[in-house]
Amino acid sequence: MPIFDAEKLRADFPILSKEVGGKPLAYLDNGATSQKPQCVIDSTNQFYGCGNANIHRGVHYLSRTATEAYEAARSTIKAALNAPDSQELIFVRGATEAINLVTNGLEEQLSEGDEIILTMMEHHANFVPWQILAERRGLKLHFIGLHENGSLDLEAWKAAFNNRTKVAAFTHVSNVLGTINPVAEMTDFAHEQGALVLVDGAQAIPHGPADLTGIGADFYVFSGHKVFAPDGIGVLVGSCDLLNSFRPYQSGGDMIDRVSISGTTYREAPERFEAGTPNISGALGLAEAFRYMGEIDWVAAAKHENNLANLAATELESLGDVRFFGTTEDKTAIVSFLYDIAHPHDIATILDTEGVAVRDGHHCAQPLMDYLEVTATVRASFAFYNNESDVEAFARGMNKVKRFFG
Ligand SMILES: Cc1ncc(COP(=O)(O)O)c(C=O)c1O
Repeated sequence: MPIFDAEKLRADFPILSKEVGGKPLAYLDNGATSQKPQCVIDSTNQFYGCGNANIHRGVHYLSRTATEAYEAARSTIKAALNAPDSQELIFVRGATEAINLVTNGLEEQLSEGDEIILTMMEHHANFVPWQILAERRGLKLHFIGLHENGSLDLEAWKAAFNNRTKVAAFTHVSNVLGTINPVAEMTDFAHEQGALVLVDGAQAIPHGPADLTGIGADFYVFSGHKVFAPDGIGVLVGSCDLLNSFRPYQSGGDMIDRVSISGTTYREAPERFEAGTPNISGALGLAEAFRYMGEIDWVAAAKHENNLANLAATELESLGDVRFFGTTEDKTAIVSFLYDIAHPHDIATILDTEGVAVRDGHHCAQPLMDYLEVTATVRASFAFYNNESDVEAFARGMNKVKRFFG
């Protein structure tokens, strides 16, 4: 039975008891990357200490057990995401690689004049690969705008479809605004129009495993490092039929069926897209992170995270001269703001002197910054392991900014 005890869960993350410059760490940069629980750290140590071998090739004990653990990791994550049977899970480096894999695979299936619908709230990872694809194939891209509160203009998004629309790619949750898009409704609509759907789940899974059967997208991607797992591992879940119609993204060992000097045949997904030695310890760490997440009550966790974000927003409001970006009801615990008396970089630097880690800058979303007519924001992004002391440290830091620049 999943439970939620914030302080007990917080104790699972050794880094959170660290001090930075003599102040307790208040880690509010979870949108950039998450911290790791001890069980994930142990999983990596356990693999290298007791189980290390290459997979899919040796008959010896260690290779067999490593192969079994790697494939079990795939099954664990698929089950946690309720991935449909018709879809396969491919281990990649992260969301960025997953999207590049899909744009690369779709290249031969798209022709000049075909159209792709994106939104103005995409991370560069779900923007630039489509732009490059459009340049290579002569495609037309549509970029759909947002309402004042940072929610997607769904009417405009629906109106952008026509009989040349081949793909709609959109984020599940905005990394700058926190906006949660109605991904199941959007996927249904795009499918009715005959378009394929890619959903970027990088900022969604850290707030609880998604139900991929419920969403119904053709491709769903995310990164391990944002979901309490190691760096350099991520996931693409995609329709087997589509994936097997793609030419391989990378080639070499493990992805082949038969190699000869007269030609090579390839295996089907997932191996088709896992050329070379994969990140075995990363996959095991990611499965461990999903087992850990499986014990959390995510409804209670979201409430806790949102309470903290609201507290932080209230502290900011009390300063005056603060502008918020992303104020829709349906959002994750991200507070993006500008405090007009100080540059975001100076704010982040002063917060750092209080042990508070936030992100400042364009957040790899320059088209969104242009759209909002700003060059940067400060972003405080919360995870379930944050607590009120983190918000108090943030408020102390912001009052220091006020004293310094005010
Ligand atoms: C919404 C979103 N998509 C994609 C990415 C890219 O993730 P990665 O750098 O792990 O590939 C990020 C990273 O911040 C993100 O926030």
